[in-house]
Amino acid sequence: MKAILCTKFGGPDSLIYAETENPVLTPDSVIIEVNYCGVNFPDTLIIQGTYQFKPDFPFSPGGEIAGKVLAIGAAVTNCKIGDHVMALCGWGGMAEQIVVKASHVFVIPDALDLAVAATSMYTWGTAYYALKNKAGLKQGQTILILGAAGGVGTTAILLSKLMGARVIAAASSNEKLAYCKALGADECINYTTDNLKESIKKLTNHAGVDIVYDPIGGSLAMDALKALSWNGQYLIIGFASGNIPEVPMNIPLLKGITIHGIFWGAFAEKEAKANKENLLQLMSWIMSGQLKQPIHRVYTLDQAPMALTELMQRTIKGKAVIQIKAANQSQPTTSTTSILQEPKNNTDSALNKLIIAGKAGIFLNIGKTVGPGQWITITQDMINAFAETTKDHQWVHVDEARAAKYLPDGRTLAHGYLTMSMVSYLLYELIELKQVSSFYNYGFNKARFISPVRVNDQICLTVKLEHAETQTNGSVKLILLCTIHIKGIEKPAYVAEIISVIN
Ligand SMILES: NC(=O)c1ccc[n+]([C@@H]2O[C@H](COP(=O)([O-])OP(=O)(O)OC[C@H]3O[C@@H](n4cnc5c(N)ncnc54)[C@H](OP(=O)(O)O)[C@@H]3O)[C@@H](O)[C@H]2O)c1
Repeated sequence: MKAILCTKFGGPDSLIYAETENPVLTPDSVIIEVNYCGVNFPDTLIIQGTYQFKPDFPFSPGGEIAGKVLAIGAAVTNCKIGDHVMALCGWGGMAEQIVVKASHVFVIPDALDLAVAATSMYTWGTAYYALKNKAGLKQGQTILILGAAGGVGTTAILLSKLMGARVIAAASSNEKLAYCKALGADECINYTTDNLKESIKKLTNHAGVDIVYDPIGGSLAMDALKALSWNGQYLIIGFASGNIPEVPMNIPLLKGITIHGIFWGAFAEKEAKANKENLLQLMSWIMSGQLKQPIHRVYTLDQAPMALTELMQRTIKGKAVIQIKAANQSQPTTSTTSILQEPKNNTDSALNKLIIAGKAGIFLNIGKTVGPGQWITITQDMINAFAETTKDHQWVHVDEARAAKYLPDGRTLAHGYLTMSMVSYLLYELIELKQVSSFYNYGFNKARFISPVRVNDQICLTVKLEHAETQTNGSVKLILLCTIHIKGIEKPAYVAEIISVIN
């Protein structure tokens, strides 16, 4: 197979593009045909021998990939031949095939672009772990993101905005800052031309920021630390500058500052369940279009040294990705304008349908109202069938002649429970849950019948996703406020909370 090989420690120029042995399967591993390999900063370190892992020569760099399963070891149960997968491999990804421990392989939906999948773990995983698990970022907090146009920087901007924070992006050029602004940053600081500490004072009215997210280290770290507010939090992501700063302990003491070390690889290993939860949440946001990885450029395999050189020269904005074998899928976007577009794939405009990806996606849609959906006509046949089933043959429902004589506008009335029972059908027309094994309604709460529905009236549904909570067995209980409307009548027919369970 073809691969980029590191045969001695050195810069990207020392890498060679050559033929090498195919990988060998072991019982607990998986062989993957690699379609795409994400490019990350540690790739530049591992080839120079300055990373915490030093593989035996020759090896290929490339720590995260996406592709198709070619073979599985005898003990593997989490994927099968032919599955589309993404995998965290540490190194070896810049090659046509790779062998990876099955525990580091995740099956992905076929609909997920493999180039996107190959860039969806490292930087998203790190940023989300830092912001959620370590800093506990809250809505309304202010975060300073250094190296904001880079891989872990851009994902931090997008996630912080999604989580409701005010983002101050800091980078080395106005061009990079314009890029950060396009991704949603609220304010920008150019740390090549402006004083970081003074700029933050100005932007925060001397209050300081709640959180510093630092992938650079070096000379910026001290100013950033001093720019924290009381009880501020400092997230040590990395040392892209090559310089590990030393902190005088009196500064965190005086300001009640918490300093968090972030090592996502170790978190993924030691807290695999929590990491998987994070990845599922990220996948749900990615699949629903709420998060989109900004891809700088797609390089061919022989251009991988160029991608690594550009990363080291600080000219890459967002993520670089290596295409090893084109997948039969659409190309990822490389423009920021499309990143900023409203998610398109989570509503079906013809029906105002809401499509939610995974259980995690439910929580993101709480507060949203969906509908109105399609109008359906309540016919006398429907009323009669309902009367037959429930043995409720009261004349107001079934006796058309008597209704013509005695009822206000001469039409029979549908049973209240008939229109109420239509809610499930109308609901599934309005909300589709993907990547879940079941979605069912088990109860109604606070039901009110307000206006009667008469024969030949048209009704439709609107639904508000009111509340969701995870149960101890892992299922999600979802409360939906459902309103049945009658065409031409102001007051609704029926309002109730529906209790749904999603597994
Ligand atoms: N802790 C973890 O678990 C974890 C996970 C992933 C990555 N990381 C670390 O986070 C850091 C950034 O990774 P990344 O993927 O975001 O890399 P990246 O895409 O290359 O971005 C790094 C940014 O750092 C800035 N920078 C400042 N001095 C630099 C220098 N001497 N060389 C290169 N860049 C420099 C650049 O922005 P400006 O030009 O705007 O200054 C660049 O955009 C790395 O140290 C990486 O090892 C840590």
